[in-house]
Amino acid sequence: MCGIYGYIGRNSINEVMGGLKRLEYRGYDSAGIAFIGDNLDCEYADNNEHIKRFKNLTVIKSEGQMSCLEEVINKCLPIGDIAIGHTRWATHGKPSVANAHPHISKNGKWVIVHNGIIENFEELKKQFSPKRFVSDTDSEVVAHLLEKYYDGSALSTLNKVCRMIKGSFALAVLTTYEKDKILVAKYGSPVVVGCDEEAGVVCSDLNSIKVGKCAFILEDNQFAVVEKGNVSVYDENLKPKKLKNMADCHREERGNLGNYSHFMLKEIDEIPRAITRTIEQYNSYEKMRTVLPLNVVRKIKKILIIGCGTAYHAGLIGKRLFEEIGIKSEVEIASEFRYNTFIPEKNTLAIFVSQSGETADTIKALSKCKENNLLTLAMTNVKNSSICFVADRVIYTSAGAEIGVASTKAYNSQVALFYLISSYFKSVLDDNAKDFDREVVKLLDVAKVISHNKIKPICQKVADEIYQSKSIYMIGRGLDYDLAREASLKLKEISYIHCEAYPAGELKHGTISLIDDKTFVFSFITQKMVKDKTQSSEKEISARGGKIIKLTQFEENNAFMQLSLPEVEEKYMPLIAVVYMQLISYYTSVRLGNNPDKPRSLAKSVTVE
Ligand code: G6P
Repeated sequence: MCGIYGYIGRNSINEVMGGLKRLEYRGYDSAGIAFIGDNLDCEYADNNEHIKRFKNLTVIKSEGQMSCLEEVINKCLPIGDIAIGHTRWATHGKPSVANAHPHISKNGKWVIVHNGIIENFEELKKQFSPKRFVSDTDSEVVAHLLEKYYDGSALSTLNKVCRMIKGSFALAVLTTYEKDKILVAKYGSPVVVGCDEEAGVVCSDLNSIKVGKCAFILEDNQFAVVEKGNVSVYDENLKPKKLKNMADCHREERGNLGNYSHFMLKEIDEIPRAITRTIEQYNSYEKMRTVLPLNVVRKIKKILIIGCGTAYHAGLIGKRLFEEIGIKSEVEIASEFRYNTFIPEKNTLAIFVSQSGETADTIKALSKCKENNLLTLAMTNVKNSSICFVADRVIYTSAGAEIGVASTKAYNSQVALFYLISSYFKSVLDDNAKDFDREVVKLLDVAKVISHNKIKPICQKVADEIYQSKSIYMIGRGLDYDLAREASLKLKEISYIHCEAYPAGELKHGTISLIDDKTFVFSFITQKMVKDKTQSSEKEISARGGKIIKLTQFEENNAFMQLSLPEVEEKYMPLIAVVYMQLISYYTSVRLGNNPDKPRSLAKSVTVE
């Protein structure tokens, strides 16, 4: 989702372009940059719809990938000592040059980039003639408000304007009134500011900012003035604030593709390592106690798990694991939870699952739980992400940076962590630490069972069969249904084939009428207890011509295609089976000519509600 990068210092335009590229993983559909400086090929610039020049402020924008913006920049060769840039994921207004950020005020003295949503933008726009607006965005109005309310100080003007805004924002602002600084404001959307001896930087996340001297993660209602070699942070009343310097904190290396054609395939291959690293981080009672002390665990009567997308699907499995050991458990979609009636129960532990740690819906749901005095635990893959600062406690998956938008190794690591946490709870409640040690060993063994190279050919074969489908269904019961839900999301998000997961027994209550002899149905049978029942559902499908692709460890040979899963203890089977489905989704996407790493319309980090 939207990324912000701003730089003051030498080669600012190159630095901003580099920063925006590091933020590309978040997902975007247009990009732009604004800078103060006059050095560019004017003839080219004056006749180019991507470039707007206002005295010494220039804005260059393009639709599509960063390479499109780069092409324009390479032709006009701009130079500037101060620049802000943005990658936009469309919310208000379609992806277009006009709607791309930065947005400029009418007098050409202010230019802004924004991440978040300005909920009252229609209301705010009424202060101006409609003719003033050149975009459909909620963001543009901020530039005009800054122009209108300018009071002689850029920072105080920004402060005044932010008080008028309802919604969420990370804003980076340039103004020709004070050409030597970038102004930053934050409420509800993440932003980091930092500096080196000769430079100042603003960026959407800590992993993508390049600074050595200092880096501060802004909190809500804070402002920052970024200058060459200096950053000042202020509270909402513009009183100076001191924040913890995070420049030396652990930052995740993004890694590179190596010999792979896509990050997604690389990341699927990294699953065994991701699970192992995650488990090893908490492989003893002592380590788990630092996250959840024994006296805390003993008091917990209920577990509430909340997340979005794939993280929510990991939570579905978590819920079953906790219930298996006798702890009442619920799992909710974060965006639904926020507006559902909530009846908090005493001694509930609320677990928030988020690979990025930046998902706005999840963080808002977390705040709601805190307001209701629940103990909160964040499960995230990104150290120092926003969620870590809001939750009472944090537990990390150590999957390594995940770049592919479709989550793979992060999901397996989250599920692995749920096995570990639930086992820790059981051991604490039974007062039997040995059980926990055994679980650690088992999980490390399960990680080794996944043998990618052996299974790739069969997964490719399945992709070759299904890629022309209009609609695909996936069925399972219990844990197999949870698995089907994640598998279905994976396939649809990167292949764009309509795909639905159904509880095997529910299909006959309506959806089965959609099945004909062109329909593929994936059937998951990894749990003995429901084997016969799911087989009956398969028969109902076959009787209507549906083609079953079955994933099971049991000996059966009655399907259109069968993928024989390696056998591990039943409860871990989803962790294994999902890898087949991640690979099948990947190969289907590639077969269709899509880019699985950057599926259309999707963002890796969804920072708006
Ligand atoms: C987006 C991504 C999904 C991800 C979800 C939750 O929708 O496209 O892959 O599962 O956000 O993200 P989180 O970072 O909170 O796990």
